[in-house]
Amino acid sequence: MVRGSASRVSYHDLAPDAGDFRQEVIAGLSRAQKSLSPKFFYDERGSQLFEAICELPEYYPTRTEVALMQDNASEMAQQLGPGCVLIEYGSGSGRKTRILLEALAPAAYVPIDIAGPQLADCSNELARAFPDIAVIAVCADYSRPFALPGLERLRENRRVIYFPGSTIGNFTVPEALAFLRGACTILRPGGAMLVGVDLKKDPAMLRAAYDDAQGVTAQFNVNLLVRINRELGANIDLAGFRHRAFYNAEAGRIEMHLESLRDQQVVISDRTFTFRKGETIHTENSYKYSIAEFQDLARTAGFVAHSCWTDARELFSVHYLTVPGQAKPL
Ligand code: AVJ
Repeated sequence: MVRGSASRVSYHDLAPDAGDFRQEVIAGLSRAQKSLSPKFFYDERGSQLFEAICELPEYYPTRTEVALMQDNASEMAQQLGPGCVLIEYGSGSGRKTRILLEALAPAAYVPIDIAGPQLADCSNELARAFPDIAVIAVCADYSRPFALPGLERLRENRRVIYFPGSTIGNFTVPEALAFLRGACTILRPGGAMLVGVDLKKDPAMLRAAYDDAQGVTAQFNVNLLVRINRELGANIDLAGFRHRAFYNAEAGRIEMHLESLRDQQVVISDRTFTFRKGETIHTENSYKYSIAEFQDLARTAGFVAHSCWTDARELFSVHYLTVPGQAKPL
């Protein structure tokens, strides 16, 4: 049997380094409301814990979105069209991508992720499974601007951004708008986006999804402190903090925090941070949208909202958006 080899993967490392991490942690813990970006969850252990979250009975988004992809992949593929360059933000395990790639025949697949080891493994696996697709892996923090490498040969192809998992929910609304505007520019007229968005629903169901009975989400949240201890030589007492998750109805988002269980001081790279009992580090926002709210946001960013697929219980949505105008020969 002839199979593609890992050599058809080109790998571009634009990942932030330990210095960037240190700077962001110190800046985040110096704010009145201490905060850390959820992008830092995904070290090796964090990526594994996130995969475990996706299997939890309470965490409905992944299995709902996977089913949506399975049920609608051929219709989605038809809209995206063969020969496109499929650019995925936050490619993670690549499970949903596989379903799409089986229905679509893109010229190239460009997974972008901040988690290097998982990105390398998944890119190699996908290249083996789909020998006709060029895989251009980019390890990067896409919350900051960066130029997409490796696409010179594919300048004429239609660009499509795949952004599944409701990762867009990590952005505040103004950040999501800025991200979508940036996406329009990258896509150019004629390009398209397929984006997974978690829907507003019963707050009790939302809360359970982010505070599961087995405590896996708690471990995922606390792992951020484990990472700070290891990578920044800190000595944070893990027993001094606990996981908190709640639905903020006004803002339409789940918030995750790490709550200090007592008055304490934490030393990170010669800097001392003081915590009062009950004070929190805000570690994640996970915004929930109605279908109309998300379509309005996409239109404001310059997209045309076409199809939207949803499950029978309306738990999750996948939107197909296009950038208006004719594809111009470059
Ligand atoms: C990967 C950002 C989509 O917000 O549901 C899961 C991350 N955090 N459980 C989400 C997450 C806690 C997840 N996203």
